[in-house]
Amino acid sequence: MSRELINAGIAGTGTYVPERVLYNSQLEELVDTSDEWIRSRSGIRERRIARPDQATSDLAVAAGERALENAGMAPEEVDLIITATNTPDMFFPATACLVQEKLGAKNAGAFDLAAGCTGFIYALATGSQFIATGSCRTVLVIGAENLSKITNWKDRNTCVLFGDGAGAVVLRPTVEDRCILSFKLRADGAGALHLHMPAGGSRQPATRETVGQNKHYIHMNGREVFKFAVRVMGEAAEEVLALAGLSKSDLDFFIPHQANIRIVKAAARRLGLPMEKVLVNVDRYGNTSTASIPLALEEALQSGRIKKGDNVVMVGFGAGLTWGAVAIKW
Ligand code: UT7
Repeated sequence: MSRELINAGIAGTGTYVPERVLYNSQLEELVDTSDEWIRSRSGIRERRIARPDQATSDLAVAAGERALENAGMAPEEVDLIITATNTPDMFFPATACLVQEKLGAKNAGAFDLAAGCTGFIYALATGSQFIATGSCRTVLVIGAENLSKITNWKDRNTCVLFGDGAGAVVLRPTVEDRCILSFKLRADGAGALHLHMPAGGSRQPATRETVGQNKHYIHMNGREVFKFAVRVMGEAAEEVLALAGLSKSDLDFFIPHQANIRIVKAAARRLGLPMEKVLVNVDRYGNTSTASIPLALEEALQSGRIKKGDNVVMVGFGAGLTWGAVAIKW
């Protein structure tokens, strides 16, 4: 028996960033770097840093509450919470369960999704399928990160790049064509070690030695990730446009994962897009991993840049290696 699939639309958005701003000039005091190097190589000017007592679920709850309010939904109406994160509060239970409890979403299922910085794209696609099949009517999708807690503040290769934050969207069924049009999710585990946290898992359980060797921090081969990102971003965007029956000229806004302004510009060039159509926040938040795309989306909605009927493509890439894209008619 075949059933009609149901369109999933974004009914509300919400974000949260910690108050504390860390400027490049302050990083000059921690490692051998300069404001000039960071700006010219990454485009980052400043980033937000969570308080020591703020865990990822705290950031996620703040963003989730705002998204539900924006959608006009009560927590009890949520059927499912998907939290995409690389920095869960704990190994287990899932951060999504902590979010579920704090939100008072007492009728919701909850799970975490790990797909590196592509986590939000993966979670959006996954959530949309629960709506499409009719299994859920309200799905809260959250991307939340506390990267400052797994950053080695003595490693200049990584510590200048990351920031903390959270973004959320509420997915609901819609009869309109203003919905998620297509998505594509990809992975290449051959590049897994280009971006990883070596210890703390079952491969190398945490010991005094692993902690002493800084293996519980982010380790990254930036140059390899850079080359990979430039290769896959434009391609992923083109794939979801084609799946949605759209051409590049139909694209109104492009929301790339915010890791480096040079990667963003390279992807825009490949798509033949002027920078006016590309949303950028890496200058103010750095790389917030799974939060970067919903943060940029919310900003464009707040400022009225994205309007009803606009074709929007979001593209992510990151640890895994993973990449993926979602096309939406707003
Ligand atoms: O969300 C996905 C996660 N990550 C990414 O997307 C990161 C992707 N990669 C990048 O954004 C860039 O590769 C970086 C910003 C990380 C680095 O830029 P790059 O132009 O690829 O620089 P590089 O790695 O080729 O390094 C150039 C030099 C090196 O010195 P040597 O070996 O040429 O003498 C580095 O040691 O710059 C040095 N360097 C720094 N210098 C000052 C590396 N980090 C710093 C720093 N300040 N913070």
